[in-house]
Amino acid sequence: MAATRNSPTHDLVVFGATSFVGQILTRYLADEFGTHDGLKWAIAGRSEAKLSALRNGLGLKAGKLPLLVADAADEEALRRMCVDTRVVISTVGPYALYGEPLVKVCAETGTDYCDLTGEVQWIRRMIRAYEKTAKKSGARIVHCCGFDSIPSDLGVHFLQREAKARFGKPCSEVRMRVKGMRGGFSGGTVASLLNVVKEASADPALRKELANPYSLCPEGYASSVRQPDLRSPQYDSDFEAWAAPFVMSAINTRIVQRSNALSKQAYGADFRYDEAMLTGRGIKGRLAAAGVTAGLAAVMVAGALPPTRWALGRFVLPAPGEGPSPEAQRKGYFDLRFLGRTDGGQELRVKVTGDRDPGYGSTAKMLGQAGACLALDFADSGRGGGFWTPATMFGDRLIERLTAHSGLGFEVIEG
Ligand SMILES: NC(=O)c1ccc[n+]([C@@H]2O[C@H](COP(=O)([O-])OP(=O)(O)OC[C@H]3O[C@@H](n4cnc5c(N)ncnc54)[C@H](OP(=O)(O)O)[C@@H]3O)[C@@H](O)[C@H]2O)c1
Repeated sequence: MAATRNSPTHDLVVFGATSFVGQILTRYLADEFGTHDGLKWAIAGRSEAKLSALRNGLGLKAGKLPLLVADAADEEALRRMCVDTRVVISTVGPYALYGEPLVKVCAETGTDYCDLTGEVQWIRRMIRAYEKTAKKSGARIVHCCGFDSIPSDLGVHFLQREAKARFGKPCSEVRMRVKGMRGGFSGGTVASLLNVVKEASADPALRKELANPYSLCPEGYASSVRQPDLRSPQYDSDFEAWAAPFVMSAINTRIVQRSNALSKQAYGADFRYDEAMLTGRGIKGRLAAAGVTAGLAAVMVAGALPPTRWALGRFVLPAPGEGPSPEAQRKGYFDLRFLGRTDGGQELRVKVTGDRDPGYGSTAKMLGQAGACLALDFADSGRGGGFWTPATMFGDRLIERLTAHSGLGFEVIEG
């Protein structure tokens, strides 16, 4: 049953504020927005004691930052939270295990929503199940507002805007290469990744769906354009370096294709996009590309088999709630290069950079600004309800926010 909403108390609620990334995000919002009337925000989660400890750790008094208690499976508690809130940010993952009730309630109550999921199969399920409801209620749902997939999606948006200004048309081919990055994984990300591998290994239909580059495009969207997909070490002459598969390309490429589909093919009907990781030149670069490819394959194989999946989660990878230290976040960074080419052969190069580790320090800032964008910039933007992508929902406005407040850079480069 759809609830009604009258002038909600909160502009923004962070659901899962006590998660590894939620705590970084909460500190960031406190630094950026304080607790004054400019942005009325609150933190939420399943444990009042943990939320209270987080608030005390920030040196904030009880009256300054409201706490809301709700379990991810308790629809009634989520509904009470949503009817009193304009935008919910969720960091409660793996989303495929815990995320559906909140998306359902947001779609029903007309509450805007953004998150950090990179789980293609779950996003597809949510779109199929709740897009009609969200369109009717006016809820704007924006998945993938972290390292996957904001730099890729907004990087392509930025490059295509420049291409149209310079060449009068978009690039029909864009290639993204990770030139450098430093950072670690958290337990939550590992749990989400292992859950995707587990679901896919048990379901051939899902494996087929995950292999489809257009799997997140609207139903009925037809494109016969074959998408490039680097799966083995290759020398990349455009970037004069060896390249290996990039683990996030499986989600980023799907989001970028959805952006093209939702924008009535603003990047062109024959648009091609791929991602890979550069590993350097010469024999060292070649060996590193082989190492990255083999390492990725080993994790996928180990993740598919129950005993090795258990051992990976138990002994090798971080547990839920763990992740890179504050120092590792500060020392982290990312540097992504994009090469666009029009069908006439004109070229444009762009770089997108971040000043913190990609998965946590930078991700928390991206997610916070995406939520702020929904709450402050696009409250009455005329953008209707439904499932958006970062580029189609936020576009240039989020690029402005990220460059001004989040240590990201978007620039055209030569050579
Ligand atoms: N896209 C990206 O770039 C990116 C980057 C980082 C993380 N992520 C994703 O973000 C998610 C969070 O990652 P993380 O490392 O921060 O995870 P985490 O530390 O393991 O935190 C998981 C959170 O979920 C909460 N939770 C679990 N079950 C719940 C329930 N039934 N009701 C309410 N809350 C519940 C936990 O609450 P308690 O605190 O009470 O235990 C905790 O706050 C993961 O899905 C991860 O894949 C994505």
